Amino acid sequence: MSTISFEAPRGMRDFYPEDMVWRNRIFDAWRDAAEHFGFQNYDACVVESLELLQRKSGEEVSEQIYAFEDKSGRKLALRPEMTPTLARMVAAKQKRLPFPIKWYTMAQCFRYERMTRGRKREHDQWNMDIIGSQEVLCEAEILGAAVYAMRAMGMPDEAWRIHVSSRALLGELLAVSGIAEAQHPAVFIALDKRGKISDEEIAALLCSEGLDDGAIEKTFRLLNVTSLEEATALAGENSPAIQNLKALFTIAESMGYAHLLMFDIAVIRGLSYYTGIVFEAFDAQRKFRAIFGGGRYDSLLALVGGQPTPAVGMGFGDVVVGEVLREILGEDAPIAREGYCIGYMTAAERSAAVCLATRLRTEKNRVDLSLVAQKPKHFFGKAGNSNARFAIFLGPDDVASGKVQVKDLQTRESQEINL
Ligand code: HAM
Repeated sequence: MSTISFEAPRGMRDFYPEDMVWRNRIFDAWRDAAEHFGFQNYDACVVESLELLQRKSGEEVSEQIYAFEDKSGRKLALRPEMTPTLARMVAAKQKRLPFPIKWYTMAQCFRYERMTRGRKREHDQWNMDIIGSQEVLCEAEILGAAVYAMRAMGMPDEAWRIHVSSRALLGELLAVSGIAEAQHPAVFIALDKRGKISDEEIAALLCSEGLDDGAIEKTFRLLNVTSLEEATALAGENSPAIQNLKALFTIAESMGYAHLLMFDIAVIRGLSYYTGIVFEAFDAQRKFRAIFGGGRYDSLLALVGGQPTPAVGMGFGDVVVGEVLREILGEDAPIAREGYCIGYMTAAERSAAVCLATRLRTEKNRVDLSLVAQKPKHFFGKAGNSNARFAIFLGPDDVASGKVQVKDLQTRESQEINL
């Protein structure tokens, strides 16, 4: 019989308890931030109809879909992202929903990616979306929640930045350069590949979309715009895209995170449904892939068959942020110690230990009760490595006297309590 590998399939992940400490730190911060900003939780099936997910060619994600046929011949897929599913769910109840809606979810997504640092074939993605409003306050709220989550995870402000641009702005600038609107979606997708493929390959892609040499040169020149002022000079003070971006920076100022934002025309996004402001967060040193990304997608609802409805949202994966956090905080980042560890010397003290554990649990304390009798040295060794704040060890003398020492594992102090 051939031996079965103990490894998870390539690109998939197992989470041992020590890994879950990190994962929970991230998930807790996501949930806390979403609730704090008044978003409602939703969820959906992991398996989607392939038809909903099949997309314009050129998008990387369309080539990465895990697709299969079920036993009845239905063409299905594991979702690579949540946004098409969200659009489907909203379209299904569009007449009854109290727009604007603010929804969040934490969804496992699958993409058959080339495995590199920060990219797996399965990841968990926090999604925050606001549907039914054109106000730029929506973008600001979503970014505000992301900032809140990053801070809750322990990420220092100086360690990362949110790069912001606008497809509407790039569209205006491309139009000024004489590039027809019909070509813009293909240009966006091609330019998003910058850094991943060579400029010559991007030029070849643009050429295949019908851009001549002059238009290709103008397109590349646009990417050299380095500031919002420069972009304003090109697009004009009255450009709606410029006004929108400026409004976002102003609200971010009031919300206390403007110092984290930077205009970066190179942020385009690889998904074709974005229509307005787009953003991506990176570590300050740019050593890692994007931590999160998103933007405005005002046409997607209509594209899946719903009523035209403005929307904006963000996807924030657990992989890259986990890598950045580990590097900044260290593998042994302190975890909050909480609750009790209870042990006992012999089977004769077990029932007293069970009663004490039950009493403490009734009082809403977290209690880890030893399953076997053991020597104090063993017990305290294990307790020291656990997440418990207090350790209680019951020996025959403690049970006889009805009193026991509670040891604070953080301060090393002990206090006597009645059993
Ligand atoms: P996305 O940029 O494709 O956007 O993914 C969002 C985030 O998910 C990335 O920044 C990264 O943190 C994580 N991510 C994506 N693929 C992988 C992977 N293979 N391995 C690890 N992490 C990954 C979207 O998916 C949009 N649907 C987000 C959105 C929501 N836009 C509007 N609403």
